[in-house]
Amino acid sequence: MNAPAWIDAAWMASVAKIETTSQRIGATFPHASLNGRYQSQPAHWWTAGFWPGLLWLSYTETHSPELKELAETLEDQLDETVLSFFPLHHDVGFMWLLTAVARYRLFGQESARRRALLAATLLAGRFNPQGDFIRAWGTLPSQTNNAGWSIIDTMMNLSLLFWASQQTEDPRFGHIAIRHADTVLREFVRADGACHHIVSFDALTGERIEALAGQGFAPDSAWARGTAWALYGMANTYRHTKDPRYLAASQRIADFFLAALGDDPIPYWDLRLPSRQGMPRDTSAGCIAASGLIDLAQLVAGTSGSYYRDGALRILQAIVESSSSFADDEEGLVLHGTGHYPQKQNVDVALIYGDYFFLEALAKFRGQALDLW
Ligand code: GLY
Repeated sequence: MNAPAWIDAAWMASVAKIETTSQRIGATFPHASLNGRYQSQPAHWWTAGFWPGLLWLSYTETHSPELKELAETLEDQLDETVLSFFPLHHDVGFMWLLTAVARYRLFGQESARRRALLAATLLAGRFNPQGDFIRAWGTLPSQTNNAGWSIIDTMMNLSLLFWASQQTEDPRFGHIAIRHADTVLREFVRADGACHHIVSFDALTGERIEALAGQGFAPDSAWARGTAWALYGMANTYRHTKDPRYLAASQRIADFFLAALGDDPIPYWDLRLPSRQGMPRDTSAGCIAASGLIDLAQLVAGTSGSYYRDGALRILQAIVESSSSFADDEEGLVLHGTGHYPQKQNVDVALIYGDYFFLEALAKFRGQALDLW
């Protein structure tokens, strides 16, 4: 793919920065940057894969033994979370795709393959066969019963199940992914391409109860990052299944996302706010959508493909010009992300997953992606 010069410049500056910040951040699990420094989270936190993912992406450029060793150490540290079990969740896809699957792709280590298969088994174990959905989280302290909660973000974690089916020649992982994706098509993705964040089902009967706002403004608004997860996850599901319903869904969501941006390429935290006055952006949603749009552009021919590729470029260029930081006084690469606006957590900060999908999108334009989804 021919990339404009600014993509190459942003890639080189990002990789150079990661080489420097890796000496400071080290073997921790950074999440959100406050006052220029990444705050770390425990190994079971859903974001634990993104820093090692950034290290592996940078490794494709530098082949630095230090970056490799750090990414391997972080992968080792995830092991303890398997035995502690209860804090784990559906995001084991993010955690082990960007660590063990990445390492297995690069070096073929059997230990990495084994770890990723174990994680896929944990993800498959969250499937509710009565309602055909993957349960998002364990018991939440704030809820009396969330056993029937499923969320749009899980679309990205399905790639771990497809990978496991391909590795083991056992279609059961893929069957679960497809049944979950079909539930998402039916219950989450709306006619106009907007998506619910959470849908609550009766865990016993599988009946749908209601859509919940979750991290979005309202149940029927359009949380920007959730929309981006859906766009990208549906494109991945199409690549794995070749079922055109998923491609059509990804396009419908992409068309909604790009129309909601209009001439202003960096998304607000929700794409359907009653007023944008004083509202923060979420650059992470932009980076995730850009990376998904690059894949979508390769899956559809003609003017639609060009439209998605141009959309990705517009988002990335705006982020490079107005929301990136290549100096190491700020550890984040991409500023102005919003973690959880309704709870006022991590608003207008750099977020490690924004950084990851930014670098991943640049890598795709350079033909240097790790092909993890
Ligand atoms: N997966 C949680 C989030 O996107 O904030």
